[in-house]
Amino acid sequence: MNKVFSALAVSVDGYIAGRGTAPGSGLGDAGFLFDWYFDGDTPSKSLDGFRLSEPSARVFDALAARVGAIVAGRKTYDDSEEFGGGGPHPTAPLVVLSHRPAPRAEQSARQTLVTTGIKDAIAAAQELAGDKDVALQGGGMVTEALQAGLIDEIVLHQVPVLVGGGRPYFQQLPGHVRLRLLGATPAPGVTHLHFEVVR
Ligand SMILES: NC(=O)c1ccc[n+]([C@@H]2O[C@H](COP(=O)([O-])OP(=O)(O)OC[C@H]3O[C@@H](n4cnc5c(N)ncnc54)[C@H](OP(=O)(O)O)[C@@H]3O)[C@@H](O)[C@H]2O)c1
Repeated sequence: MNKVFSALAVSVDGYIAGRGTAPGSGLGDAGFLFDWYFDGDTPSKSLDGFRLSEPSARVFDALAARVGAIVAGRKTYDDSEEFGGGGPHPTAPLVVLSHRPAPRAEQSARQTLVTTGIKDAIAAAQELAGDKDVALQGGGMVTEALQAGLIDEIVLHQVPVLVGGGRPYFQQLPGHVRLRLLGATPAPGVTHLHFEVVR
């Protein structure tokens, strides 16, 4: 059975984007959350143009190699300008979760629109992923998946900054969610914290 995980760049105070997010400005005033993707000397084996530190490249490429499909929340999709009809991963198909029609997702061969909720979105991605894993992108959507008990692993690419406001990784949950640390990798400009969700 494939796993469902989320691996996002996040500030120490829990924000995956700053203030003023909009289409074409997905991180708002917190663009530095992605600096570690580009300020190293080790090219990613999976994503063109990414140059990371050696420990970050190891973590990042291992995660990217697992991805068979991605589910993105509608705000992530809109702010990424619909990923130009593709997706955030070079090969994995994209499932967009929204309550509204998304014109590009209805036309693009690499994008599928789901409007019937988080369970259906993740099920559609699992089907597309085959024996690979499903990655989730977007805070509100990740929180819904946690509430539905559908996430196996959470990775925080934790950047040492307090952003102070913006879009949070985790929103309000009805109860505690216990996590078990699988790995912690310190790297220049970021610490990679890999957790398993305890069920
Ligand atoms: N730091 C990182 O690594 C990283 C990675 C990805 C994204 N981001 C940023 O994070 C921000 C987006 O996160 P977010 O938490 O604001 O939003 P999000 O999770 O991407 O999208 C939330 C939207 O998804 C749709 N949705 C969620 N649950 C749904 C359900 N059960 N049924 C139908 N639709 C549902 C709704 O869209 P509608 O109701 O509007 O249709 C909702 O407003 C963006 O600014 C993005 O650039 C950062």
